[in-house]
Amino acid sequence: LRQQGIQEINETEELSKVNDIRVKMLGKKGPLTAVLRGMKDLSKEERPKVGKFANEIRDELTKAIEVKKAELTAAQLNEKLAKEAIDVTLPGKPVIQGQPHVIQQIIDQLVDLFVGMGYEVAVGDEVEQEEYNFERLNLPKDHPARDMQDTFYVTPSVLMRTQTSPMQARMMEKHDFSKGPLKMISPGKVYRRDTDDATHSHQFHQVEGLVLGEHVTMADLKGTLEVVAKTLFGDQLEVRLRPSYFPFTEPSVEADITCFNCLGKGCAICKHTGWIEVLGAGMVHPNVLKMSGVDPDKYGGFAFGLGPDRFAMIKYGVEDIRDFYQNDVRFLNQFNQKG
Ligand code: PHE
Repeated sequence: LRQQGIQEINETEELSKVNDIRVKMLGKKGPLTAVLRGMKDLSKEERPKVGKFANEIRDELTKAIEVKKAELTAAQLNEKLAKEAIDVTLPGKPVIQGQPHVIQQIIDQLVDLFVGMGYEVAVGDEVEQEEYNFERLNLPKDHPARDMQDTFYVTPSVLMRTQTSPMQARMMEKHDFSKGPLKMISPGKVYRRDTDDATHSHQFHQVEGLVLGEHVTMADLKGTLEVVAKTLFGDQLEVRLRPSYFPFTEPSVEADITCFNCLGKGCAICKHTGWIEVLGAGMVHPNVLKMSGVDPDKYGGFAFGLGPDRFAMIKYGVEDIRDFYQNDVRFLNQFNQKG
């Protein structure tokens, strides 16, 4: 019995079979149990001998089974490890990493700059009420300047905003001037009913800026714009203001920066003027202040609206604004900051 058991155990190569053997040899219906059960029929002298012997066999078999089990378990694990082995010397597959869109990079740079100067960032909604997009900015219905900013209407009084300027009205109406001046920028997407071509897109970006307080002057506006131009394009650039018109600012200006390409000498990019127009700005119109509950005799300041798309075109010499919106990675990867 002992020999047969040991042999069977040794020959097994499967873990599940080891258990079968245990049941067969040592189980209730096994031969060993039968021997132990038959002990009652033995004489007093024989009983301890047979009992001891049977117990020895049981212990031996039990041990053999345990050893075999451990052996097979280890073998199984080794096999699994061998199968799942990884060759760490194989060259890896490159992981393609995303990055901010070139326009977002410009916006991020501007946000960093303005936050550093104590401005708050207010992001508005692209779907805006007509009242905020036009009326509150001193553009009543039938105002001829609405023509230049025709847009997509969601309902007769709700539209896709044509500019980020509605955020001026939204921020000034809730500002508490007893706590200090209002300084904010608002980056985001705007829409116009334009036919797309190299310099027009029905969707583009703006960064609005607004500073209102007790002694804010046009000189502050110019100084601020100079910091913006120098940060984005380099220290050698100058800013020049030209008179212009916007219904919500008075006086209104358009700001030019020195052509970064020829540094003012004149080239094709600046149409040989030496200057490039980059944004609209002005001193906030008293009507706009009044309509949003700000006393124009006490507070005033400047606002500006610049176009990151245009900034990106100028900075990188991109000739077609549509390139920004076609999401061709061959184009976008040129602006990969990680090189
Ligand atoms: N909102 C104007 C535009 O879209 C730009 C602007 C903003 C002008 C703020 C003056 C002040 O053309």
